Amino acid sequence: MAGVSFKGVTKIFGKDVKAVNNLSLDVRDQEFMVFVGPSGCGKTTALRMVAGLEEATGGDINIGDVRVNDVPPKDRDIAMVFQNYALYPHMSVYENISFGLKIKELKGFLWQVFNAGEAKKIKGSIDARVKEAATMLEIGHLLERKPKELSGGQRQRVALARAIVRKPKVFLMDEPLSNLDAKLRIQTRAELIRLHRSLGITTIYVTHDQVEAMTMGQRIAVMNGGVLQQCDTPEMVYRRPANKFVAGFIGAPPMNFIAGQIKDGHVDLGHLNFVLPAGHPAATMNGKKVSFGIRPESIYVKGHAPFAAAEGNTFTARVDVVELLGHDNTAYLMTGEHKILANIDATVPLHEQQDMEFCIDLDQMHIFDGDSEVAIR
Ligand SMILES: Nc1ncnc2c1ncn2[C@@H]1O[C@H](COP(=O)(O)OP(=O)(O)OP(=O)(O)O)[C@@H](O)[C@H]1O
Ligand SMILES: [Mg+2]
Repeated sequence: MAGVSFKGVTKIFGKDVKAVNNLSLDVRDQEFMVFVGPSGCGKTTALRMVAGLEEATGGDINIGDVRVNDVPPKDRDIAMVFQNYALYPHMSVYENISFGLKIKELKGFLWQVFNAGEAKKIKGSIDARVKEAATMLEIGHLLERKPKELSGGQRQRVALARAIVRKPKVFLMDEPLSNLDAKLRIQTRAELIRLHRSLGITTIYVTHDQVEAMTMGQRIAVMNGGVLQQCDTPEMVYRRPANKFVAGFIGAPPMNFIAGQIKDGHVDLGHLNFVLPAGHPAATMNGKKVSFGIRPESIYVKGHAPFAAAEGNTFTARVDVVELLGHDNTAYLMTGEHKILANIDATVPLHEQQDMEFCIDLDQMHIFDGDSEVAIR
């Protein structure tokens, strides 16, 4: 068992592609850590550096207390699962799962090769571990098949079995679910979490899907442009985003942003004007240019909010379009020059093309510095 730490890790491709920029982060022993961010933000590169498939340009990577920058991949005791599974097509499921194990045991095997009794024991233990992993992933009945005779979800589980059978110190997973359909993805998501709970192996899981990150990660590291933006629990990243990027990336539908300015304890958004909650640090920053953020679910139809809608947090808006989602509805609101998305409980009537009164939960507003985009709180 071991944690993984990045200390000032940078990867530059060619002359100037900074894929990972000064990354410092500790993945704790037995933790399930998710790296999330848009395409090209450096997630895969960060993972490949842990695996040793990519050499860091600068900084230190430790697995446990060992600096592994110069340790060859095969000696790092990690197992990696890729998006495309990378199974050997000519081997059966059984052979695919046991293949890595055989290489790992080869050293011990070689000097015992003349000792038939020992060889038999090792073969027996490999067999037991393959069957244990296969049972855990419910592919025990597929061991004789070839990869082409499996569904996408089954192939994916073979790839996972091949990884867990080795009992590595660290699992590295790069978008392992992205080839699965939506339903299977949700199901496998839960299986992976269960697997992590029972094995307790430190895991770094890469995805560009923020829902996957939120539902799977014990902590999530949000990256953008090679730079770590925030690393915290899903709840904290959602409720207290460190900056405007994180606020906009995490959450669906996304947070609404409106540019404005602080004026006398209010945030002045031109047509709209909201009171800052008592004691909010932005209240004293008269004249400061800010970006005001409010999540769609923090907007209510007046009279249907779980709090008293005081003057200063209400507004009138035209309901442009309503999308029915089942549990709640997404309303596209227009007020003055602003377009705002609101998630409204499905039991509350909405009238398209009519003006209605809305209110926001002031405690759920976010204020970001207009220049640095860092949260002010
Ligand atoms: N071998 C390479 N040579 C040059 N540039 C590379 C190489 N690999 C990655 N890059 C660049 O480094 C940056 C980070 O790439 P990386 O694959 O780590 O992103 P990612 O976050 O995994 O994206 P995705 O979600 O699309 O998989 C990108 O700008 C990419 O073009
Ligand atoms: Mg990638």
